[in-house]
Amino acid sequence: MLTALKDELSLELSLFSGLRNELIQRKADGLLRQRRLLDSPQAEHIVANDKHFLSFCSNDYLGLANHPKLIAAMQKAAGDSGVGSGASNLITGHHRYHDALEKKLAQFVEMPAALLFSTGYMANIGVIGALMGRHDAIFADKLNHACLNEGAYLSRAAFHRFPHNDVVALEKLLKESTAKHKLIAADAVFSMDGDIAPLAEYLALCEKYDAYLYIDDAHGFGVLGKNGKGSLSHLNLKSPRIIMMATLGKAAGVAGAFVAGEQVVIDYLIQKANSYVYSTPAPPALSATLSASVELIEDGDDLRVHLNALIATLKANLSLKNWQLLPSYTAVQPLIVGSNHAALALSEHLQALGILVPAIRPPTVPVNTARLRISLSAAHSVDDVLRLANAINDAEQAMTESIQTV
Ligand SMILES: Cc1ncc(COP(=O)(O)O)c(C=O)c1O
Repeated sequence: MLTALKDELSLELSLFSGLRNELIQRKADGLLRQRRLLDSPQAEHIVANDKHFLSFCSNDYLGLANHPKLIAAMQKAAGDSGVGSGASNLITGHHRYHDALEKKLAQFVEMPAALLFSTGYMANIGVIGALMGRHDAIFADKLNHACLNEGAYLSRAAFHRFPHNDVVALEKLLKESTAKHKLIAADAVFSMDGDIAPLAEYLALCEKYDAYLYIDDAHGFGVLGKNGKGSLSHLNLKSPRIIMMATLGKAAGVAGAFVAGEQVVIDYLIQKANSYVYSTPAPPALSATLSASVELIEDGDDLRVHLNALIATLKANLSLKNWQLLPSYTAVQPLIVGSNHAALALSEHLQALGILVPAIRPPTVPVNTARLRISLSAAHSVDDVLRLANAINDAEQAMTESIQTV
């Protein structure tokens, strides 16, 4: 008995020592990720770890996460629909507020139908996992968000990854494929690079090779296109082959996601997307709040004009010699620093000045391209952005000098 207990303990210890060693190694490589404790609403000025910061960390691109109209909408809806969905969608969890939001979103993005998921992650794994199977093939940009890849793995379809935005490499893969069904998957706006995928070229390839085009518009919805309808509107693209996913926890300021496409696709997903079928939906009050958010997005041209002015201000006021701002015209402005330690040092330096910008390191981005992911929001002022630009310019000068004197 005692020996058995001892064996069990030593088994536990050897299991844990593997975990511990990996954590120690991550720290040594400058790759350990740490959470901050937020004590304020998500906004441009936040309180994190008991300190006040000017923040360039959130994806709240329109500054809606703390909007009084949305707070009021959530309070009212919680009063009349409660705080929990209580059952999965196909039992009794699908509330009229969910239904109204689905209809509103479909109409807004000008697609026949839409389906809500509780997160973007759940949407991507659910949709790709349902539509694609063992005899099919998925073609994905190498810089796609992790959850698009997870969806592909779950589907068991052949999974081909092509170099970032490389239409020629993609066509070669499509030409060689003998798969029964094909799907091209891409971020519309790349989350860590801020650039936009060549979606018109992808759509032409989908027509030529009879494939679906699945686009993840997490960072375009609300920000790009007519009235913030997203990347498809921005590029003027429409086709029954397109299935779009957008998250509702970024520019929409709340949480969740939706998938939009042809009615038959949505009907199929209601039956077959496991992360939809076997999961409790987000509370109905969230959907009521999001319906109000869609209205703010639709009427939010002034927010988008201000956001674009901030993007231009940042670009015009950074005077970089060694570091490089990627060519992005969206709210995601990545500053490539190179090594993990340098990116971390810069992020910590800015933090000491009261400015938060996250350092993004591998595996989220390719090795040697560690970066600061600056995300701008309509809630920032021009002065906020000038403060950031000046701090980065000074930091580059100081860090270059300190390397030269070592
Ligand atoms: C491109 C992209 N897709 C999907 C997701 C996941 O969305 P959610 O945060 O709603 O799970 C994210 C979130 O970071 C993202 O950037």
